[in-house]
Amino acid sequence: MKSKVRKAVFPAAGFGTRFLPATKAIPKEMLALVDKPIIQYGVEEALASGCEEIIIVTARGKSAIEDHFDISYELEASLEKRGKKELLQICRNVSNMVDLKYVRQKEAKGLGHAVLMAKDLVGNEPFAVILPDDVIDAPVPCLKQMIDTFDQVQGSILATMVIEGPAISAYGVLDGNALPGNPKVIEARGMVEKPKFEEAPSKNAIIGRYILTPAIFDLLEKITPGAGGELQLTDAIKGLLKTEKVYGLTFDGIRHDAGDKLGMLKATVDFALKRPDFGPPFREYLKSLSI
Ligand code: G1P
Repeated sequence: MKSKVRKAVFPAAGFGTRFLPATKAIPKEMLALVDKPIIQYGVEEALASGCEEIIIVTARGKSAIEDHFDISYELEASLEKRGKKELLQICRNVSNMVDLKYVRQKEAKGLGHAVLMAKDLVGNEPFAVILPDDVIDAPVPCLKQMIDTFDQVQGSILATMVIEGPAISAYGVLDGNALPGNPKVIEARGMVEKPKFEEAPSKNAIIGRYILTPAIFDLLEKITPGAGGELQLTDAIKGLLKTEKVYGLTFDGIRHDAGDKLGMLKATVDFALKRPDFGPPFREYLKSLSI
């Protein structure tokens, strides 16, 4: 019987140092992209892709994430009293979206360690990992594209995109070949976390969406610190290759690195221009700039 991807894990325990000072007291996952915190885009993507359970790996100082997806009685009562029906609905939609489960990562030991914290909540089934910094704008949700591929190959899937030049060093990089007749699916031979530009095995960067088989947890328990002295998810996935097939999927869509200041600005412009309520005047404003 084919297994179904029902659970999505969101590592959200990092410090968000790339966005200081904004992230000194606010979790980076709560930074607003137009008018929604970036983590909400990821949660909506997971639900639109068929996931039913959302697991968030949090840490100290991240309680705003829990509050955001919870009911805010005082706010709702106030909006109701003032007849602000639309806003009330927006707030209720967020708290009704899904019941989330939370698990804490006590120490910032790296992405691999954060995913390991979800072991008991995930159990023995394939699951998705979504890195909330990576906001992906796609006609078919990126995770849905990956789940469709998973359904065909029944192996772990990593989202990939081509990154030109030295910027590749900021990513995990896949080594492998496209499947015959399916150039978007790359069968992995190896992978390396944050290689030097000269040593990168390809231009195929791993982006923050993964579907992993539960075998990953044993490997996550065994890995030793890798790039940057952190326990790296990429190193555990590389270990998975010894016993299972792993694939990269070149997804259709535009990926924004919303955990980066310039990336967030670009995402803001793109998403704001698409808004029916204020996209047109925003476009006019941008056109009026003498740049
Ligand atoms: C993480 C992963 C890396 C991946 C990247 C995508 O790195 O470790 O393999 O390419 O996300 O955004 P981070 O950006 O957390 O350093």
